[in-house]
This record gives sequence, structure tokens and C-alpha cells, in this order.
Amino acid sequence: MDLACFVLWVFFFPIAAVVSFNFLRHKKRCNRNHKKLPPGEMGLPWIGETMEFFNAQKRNQLFEEFVQPRIRKHGKIFKTRIMGSPTVVVNGAEANRFFLSNEFKLVKSSWPSSSVELMGRESIMEKEGERHRVLRGVIGTSLGYAGLEVLVPKMCNSVQLHLASNWHGQERLSLYWSAKVLTFSIVFECLLGINVEPGMLDTFERVLEGVFSPAVMFPGSKFWRAKKARKEIEKMLVNVVREKRKKMEENLERGEDGMLLSRLIAGMIQGEISEQEVIDNVVLLVFAAHDTSSFAIAMTFKMLAQHSDCYNKLLQEHVDIMSSKRWGENLTLEDIKKMKYTWQVARESMRLFPPIFGSFRKAIAYIDYEGFSIPKGWKVLWTAYGTHYNEEYFKDPMSFNPNRFEDSVPPYAFVPFGGGPRVCAGYQLAKLNILIFVHYVVTQYDWSLLHPDEPITMDPLPFPSLGMPIRVFPKHS
Ligand code: HEM
Repeated sequence: MDLACFVLWVFFFPIAAVVSFNFLRHKKRCNRNHKKLPPGEMGLPWIGETMEFFNAQKRNQLFEEFVQPRIRKHGKIFKTRIMGSPTVVVNGAEANRFFLSNEFKLVKSSWPSSSVELMGRESIMEKEGERHRVLRGVIGTSLGYAGLEVLVPKMCNSVQLHLASNWHGQERLSLYWSAKVLTFSIVFECLLGINVEPGMLDTFERVLEGVFSPAVMFPGSKFWRAKKARKEIEKMLVNVVREKRKKMEENLERGEDGMLLSRLIAGMIQGEISEQEVIDNVVLLVFAAHDTSSFAIAMTFKMLAQHSDCYNKLLQEHVDIMSSKRWGENLTLEDIKKMKYTWQVARESMRLFPPIFGSFRKAIAYIDYEGFSIPKGWKVLWTAYGTHYNEEYFKDPMSFNPNRFEDSVPPYAFVPFGGGPRVCAGYQLAKLNILIFVHYVVTQYDWSLLHPDEPITMDPLPFPSLGMPIRVFPKHS
């Protein structure tokens, strides 16, 4: 071999091989990035379709004005750009299954920075893998079968006390606000075991107002007020947690009351959970339960007010349950199981009015789905509407028909509580809250809506724009 040949073999061929390999790799990545992206419009840089998204959301027309027209134009999977993030919106039971069950593998949940700062970096929504499993385990134990048996009488007492102090003697009240006050005390007193002190709900409301607002810290901004409120809450909770820990360590309290706070502190004493994790998760649980449960309760009552045949059938279910009980006797878990039709009504209300329209995920790997590629780092938005309002899963989807839940529903088609590893951890508590509240209201009161056509607003969670004022009449018998 002469020198020229030798130089060619030793230097140029390897370099050419590396260059070609890199070129092919780059080309493949470009293909993945651009060629097979889902159809859709990205709009202007950064802004994209943010205004269209938020305007539709504010009018509670996210499906009708944003999602549906794009499904018609591009299909069930389309791309867009929201608040600077390239985002793929996915719709359908199969898409829900794929993205929700691949949490931690292909996607991870993605919250705005204001939510993360206000809920806390140690809350379950920020946790992955082993830490997520540990925290879910502790929350899950309090809401497992044994936990529920203990919860039911406590919740019955809370609901009855709430009605006696907030409904009794009133002619008009805000049903949505009433549901908020009740849910707040149920989460604190029945689930966690912390007494609600005056002013606590207002302070929490201030935190929640900042959860989805821009994370800007100028005096007077929503986020600034929320951060201040969060500090007040943290101070209060630190005192409660340290006092309880001291009592449990000194054996003055054994921590066997089954309350979630005791379980979390037991984890702290064993060195499995940090103090910050306890604080952040208490704040997160209140946030997760608050607007969602109140809206679900409000919409269940709205549907009952508008469908007298459903109301009569539901009332009969509760009269039958009452007839087997002594006067003043609390409900049991067995009674709750008999509220089948009531749960159908509540589920149908959540199908039509999902308290959470969907949520964002972030792709943590390149994803190939249905012939499209979703680049790593892009956001994915799954929506409840994509299945709840789809004829494929729910016949005549826009009509209110609780009987449809007599038949089983295809997996991942009914998703007000999400699915996969991040499925709602408070599902059972939310169910008890709705059923027990409905039971005591329908057996003790008649009511009517003061504004039957009251619009629903979203900011970004939905709520009745006037707080759902109702007129109430105590039942005489
Ligand atoms: C009708 C009432 C409720 C609805 C519709 C609801 C809905 C949801 C949804 C859709 C998710 C999943 C979000 C996602 O995938 O990004 C979720 C998660 C969660 N929910 Fe609920 N929720 C309700 C009530 C509650 C209650 C009462 C609690 C507890 C007190 C609770 C605690 C949680 C927690 C801790 C998570 C996060 C789970 C995790 O990241 O592993 N929720 N909820």
C-alpha cells in the first residue's frame, strides 16, 4: 500500500464515516422532529394560540371553541403552542390510557411554576418513583377500606353540623360556597385531624387564587398575596406538626387515631418523611380537594334541580335508606354502598361538567404515538372532554342521563379523576363527601335555583359565576 492509500484509510475514511453517521443521525432526528409531527398550527413565536386557549377557557368553552374545531380540522391529535410551550393535545380513551399510564416512563406531570411554588416542591405532585410511592401509600392507607369505615361517621357529623350552622334558619345561600366550607372542614378535621380555626379558609383561598396566576412578585399581585398567605399557613402548620410530633414521641398521644396527619408524623418519626413533606402535602391535599369537590357537588345539585324525574328517583333511594335507620343514627359504609343511583347522578354530572378539564404532561423521551412523533420536552395535554363528549363512548353525549352508568364504561373513557399512577388519591373521599352531603340535604331540605341559567366560568378551574345561590325550605316531616 503506498503512502496516499495509507493516509486515505487511516484518516479520511474514519472521518467520512463519522461525518456520515452524524449526518444520518441528524436527519433521523429532523425526521422525528418535523416530518411526523402531528398536524396543527403553532401560531406566532411564544404566543402561539395562547389567547385562543385562555379566551375559550374563561367562557368555559374550551371544548367547543378550542378543542373541537381543531379536532375537526386536524384529527384527534393536534399540535399547538400555549404559553411558549409546543403542545400536543390528545383526545380519546386510547390516548388517555397511553399517556396517563406512561407517567414517569414517557411523560411526567407538568405544573406552572406558580403552582409548584405555592404547593411546595415536596408535595406529591412533584414526586416521582419511590418518593411518590411512599407518599401515595400513606395517603392511600387513610382512604383504604378500614379508613373509610372510620371516616363515614365523622363525615356524617361534619355534614349535620354544617347544615345546622349554615343552612338552618336561612332562606337563601350560596350552594357553591357552602360546599367549599364543608369540604374544607372535612379535609382538615375528618381526614387530617386538624381543627379548623377562624380565618383559615380565607387564608387558604388566597393561596389557591395564586396557584394558576403568573409567578410575578410585585406587591399586590395575586401571586404575591398567595405567597404571603402560604407563609402564614406554613407557620401555623409547623406549630401543629411539631406539637403533635412531641406528644407522639413522649407517648402522650399514640398516633393511633387513624388520621392522616398522625400517619404522616409517624413516618417523620421513623425518618421516612421530612417535615417539609408533611407541610407541603397538607397544603396540596386541601388544594386538590377544594374547588374540585365543591364544583362536583354544585353541578350535581344543578342537574337534580333541572331533572325532576332524576331527583324523585334519587330521593326515593335516600328515603329507603332512612327508613331502615333509627332517628339520629349515622350512616354506615353499607348505607353508602346502597346509594347507587345517587353516584350515577354525580358521575353523570362530572361527565358533563368535569371539575378538572384535563392536565398537562411533559414528554421526557421522544414519543412515537399513532404514527406521529412528539419531541422530548414538548407538552402533552389530555382532556376529559375528548372522551366525555364523544358519541363513540357515550351515546347522545350532551344529554343528562345517569342511567348510562348502569352499563360499564370503556376503560379511560370516563376520566374526571384522571388515571394511571397519578389517578386522584382522594377519589374515595370525594365520593363520600358528595354522597353524604346529598343524603342529608335531600332528606332535610327542598331547594330551588335562584338563577337556573347561571353561567359557568373557568379560572382555570370551573365554578358557577354567581356562586350558585339557592332558596332553601326545611322539610317538615
Ligand atoms: C370531585 C372531586 C375531585 C376530582 C374531580 C379530582 C380530580 C383529580 C384528577 C383529574 C387528578 C389527576 C391530575 C393529573 O393527572 O394531573 C387528581 C389528582 C389528585 N387528587 Fe383529586 N380530585 C378530586 C378530589 C380530591 C380529594 C378530595 C383529594 C384529597 C383530599 C384529592 C387528592 C388528589 C391528589 C393527592 C392527587 C395527586 C395524585 C398524584 O400525583 O399521585 N382529590 N385529582
